[in-house]
Order: sequence, then structure tokens, then C-alpha cells
Amino acid sequence: MIESLKQLKQQAVTELSAVTDLAVLDEFVLKYFGRKQGKLTNILRSLKNLDERQRKILGEDANAVKIEIWKLIDNRRLAIKKSGKKDFIDLTVDGEKPSMGHLHPVTQIRREFEQFFREQGFAVMEGPEIESDYYNFEALNIPKDHPARDMFDTFYVKGRDNLVLRTHTSPMQARIMEQKKPPFAVIIPGKTYRHEATDARHEHTFYQVEGLVVDTNITLANLKQVMNDLIRHLFGHEAKTQLRPSYFPFTEPSVELLMSCIFCGQKGCSICGQSGWLEMGGAGMVHPKVFEFAGYPKDKYSGFAFGMGIMRFAMLKYNIPDIRLFHQNDARFLSQF
Ligand code: DAH
Repeated sequence: MIESLKQLKQQAVTELSAVTDLAVLDEFVLKYFGRKQGKLTNILRSLKNLDERQRKILGEDANAVKIEIWKLIDNRRLAIKKSGKKDFIDLTVDGEKPSMGHLHPVTQIRREFEQFFREQGFAVMEGPEIESDYYNFEALNIPKDHPARDMFDTFYVKGRDNLVLRTHTSPMQARIMEQKKPPFAVIIPGKTYRHEATDARHEHTFYQVEGLVVDTNITLANLKQVMNDLIRHLFGHEAKTQLRPSYFPFTEPSVELLMSCIFCGQKGCSICGQSGWLEMGGAGMVHPKVFEFAGYPKDKYSGFAFGMGIMRFAMLKYNIPDIRLFHQNDARFLSQF
């Protein structure tokens, strides 16, 4: 009897070491401890046929073997779970994060503009990307053969000479003034097109935000205030603005909006061309001719307007070196925003 107990234990140890999955382990338990035909159960059961002295000695031995094998079974079970073999799902392991989409950086900067201007009391409007020659040029005081047309390399619609892909968002100035009586303040964000060779700073398709404020007593000081607030909102309170004389046919006077170079602290660097200033857009006081095209009474209203390329804002804000990256749809670029 002692011999068969020893054999049984040896056999159990060998068998157990080969068990690598939980279902087999359960079978093992049944084989040795099953109530009806378990090998160890049978031995324990047969103890009752022995005399008292033998039963005591063998009983203790059998019990020790039983405890030992159960211990081995428990260890085995743990080892199988740890090794991550089948049948085991570890609920404490972190899940895989699904990759989420998000707004395009141009949309993000556009929404920042919209939020700023809404808070300043501006309405937000949109206009057509295919525009008539009249609104894109004529109504903005750029007649046919005006040299200022050279400022805008234009895509024309084939077979429709009077239609263009708008070269700027300014045509919406004329459209809005035809429809609205002052006072009003609007911005017009949107896509614009130029027939240009592309490089790191030029795209044929880009985005502008146009602004137009008309009332009876608007001055250049109002423009300066709004520009100053916008730049500080987007780039922080250290950023300074400057208006520098410029030329656009639809404003008089016309100005260039400049921002102090945020990269070199105005010491001069390659990004600001050593000047300490970055060009951020065009602006000015609405030209009397433009009011006249809109049908407004002479000398009654004054207003300011501005137009800014918002991809340039995004490039400076997020340190993006090449404007063409925006439209390449490369997830490695886009996922950074
Ligand atoms: N439309 C001009 C451009 O794309 C920018 C501009 C300049 C807009 C002056 C304006 C303005 O509203 O007043 O180059």
C-alpha cells in the first residue's frame, strides 16, 4: 500500500508537469480526486478495510500526499494563468486605445478665429467659391485692365469668362454691403484660390478670413484695436502689432498688418527676414468707390476691412515649415494637432 502511494505520487507529479491548459488540469483533478473513480480517492476509501494501527500510519501518509498534490495543482493553475495560455482572460490588462479622428489644423485655427470674433460681436458668414468677375474684382474697384489684377493670379472657369475661383474672400464685402444696411460687423472665413506655382509658402488653394465693419464713425483706430486684440488672443500678450502703409484698390488708406516676431523676440531671424516683424495680412478703410458700388449714400458711412491667410497663422502658431503639408493628408503630420 505504501508502495502504491509512492508510485501514485510520482505519477501525479510527472503528469502535472506536462499540463499546460486549464481544461486538462480539470481532467487531472477528476482523475485523482474524482468522487467515484479518483485514484487517490480509491486509496483513501480502502483505508477503512485496514486495522486501526495500519490505518493511522497509512492514513497520515495518504493525507500528506493528498495535500502535496493539491498544492502542486494550485501552483500549476497559477503558472498556466500567468503564462497567458488559452482559457484565461486577464481583465486587468489595459485595453487598446482606438485611434480617434480629430479636426484638421486649418479647421481648428478657423474656429479660433470665429470664436474670437463672435465674442467681439461679429457675425460669421460664408460665400461662394466660384465667384463672378464683378464681385471678385469690379465691385472692389479693380476694373478690367487695372494693374492691380496682377496681384491676383486667377483661375478662370473654362468657357465662362465672367466666372473665377475667388482669389480672396473680399468679394463677400461687396455682396454683404448690397444686402445689409449698416451698422454691422462680419467675418467671412473660406477657401480661396490662386493660379500660382506652389512652394513652402504658397499654395494654389488656401484659406482666408475676411472682416468688414461698417458704421457711421469707424476709424483706423478701431481697426488697430481689433487687430491688436486678435493677435494677442492667438499668440499671447507679449505679441505686438503694427500697421504699415500699403496698397489695395478697395481700401484707402491701406495697411499691412504686422506682428512682432515671436521666434526671435524681434532680434532678427530667418523667419522674419531679420526685420523683427511678420506680415499677417492686409487691411484698411473701405474705399469710397466700394461704398458707391454697393449703392450706399455718399459720405454717410465709414468702415474698415481686413483679409488674412489663416494657414500662415497656423504655421506660425504651430511651427509648421511648409504650407503644402496641410493638403497632403499625411496622418503623421495631421495626428500632431
Ligand atoms: N484681399 C486681399 C488679399 O487677398 C487682402 C485684403 C487687403 C483684404 C485689404 C481686405 C483689405 O479686406 O481691406 O490680398
